[in-house]
Amino acid sequence: MRQPLVVGNWKMNGTRESVRELLDDILAGLPERGVEVGVCPPYVFIPQAAAQLAGSSVLLGAQNVADQDQGACTGEVSAAMLKEFGCALAIVGHSERRLLYGETDALVAARYQKAIEHGLCPILCVGETLEQRETGQTFQVVAQQLDAVLGRAGIDSLTRAVIAYEPVWAIGTGRTATPEQAQEVHDYIRQRLAAQDKDVAAQVRILYGGSVNAENASGLFAMPDIDGGLIGGASLKAEVFLAIVQAARKC
Ligand code: 13P
Repeated sequence: MRQPLVVGNWKMNGTRESVRELLDDILAGLPERGVEVGVCPPYVFIPQAAAQLAGSSVLLGAQNVADQDQGACTGEVSAAMLKEFGCALAIVGHSERRLLYGETDALVAARYQKAIEHGLCPILCVGETLEQRETGQTFQVVAQQLDAVLGRAGIDSLTRAVIAYEPVWAIGTGRTATPEQAQEVHDYIRQRLAAQDKDVAAQVRILYGGSVNAENASGLFAMPDIDGGLIGGASLKAEVFLAIVQAARKC
């Protein structure tokens, strides 16, 4: 069955010192089995985090990955570079990238493709804005975001990827989707994938993200198609993050 996965997306937060303390505390409280755990620090902290996580089961990830292999791409970091520095995961298509930095479905698909080519596991983020939800476009938006990636990389790539459903209106707002609202979209995603390949759909992990905290995590993770979480603000405090990790493990 699908092993639960909880990943911290630290976004643009941290100092050398806070990263060291946070990872120390996470490592000290990590359950031995029953859940996979990952962290995605800002790029500059990746070497430091890799050294600290060496020998542990915690997966290291980046918050994005370049759509090209090398060359004149100022500000980008390639999949090969991330691999060289110990990354196993790379978030792609986060709504902050899409909305604040104008990343299109096509660019997200190209980034995803590069991660797959280089053996990095992409965490593909999809999700609707509040306006899109209120005008009944949730499924359509999510389908379009998924199809752009699968059209380029193919359904089989999902055997080496993770999906994260992150409704934009729930990110950093304290307004979480209810377990039922999230499950409805997770189920939709899985069914849409199953139309192409039942086995891939059954095994791919679909995480929920958006204001997950220690209180609401168990309700979300109890849903049949929610396989863990992509955690923002709550992943910056070790005890809260570890409580969320425990909640995923229990299911
Ligand atoms: P919050 O948990 O802070 O709402 O952020 C969610 C998120 O964007 C994770 O990628």
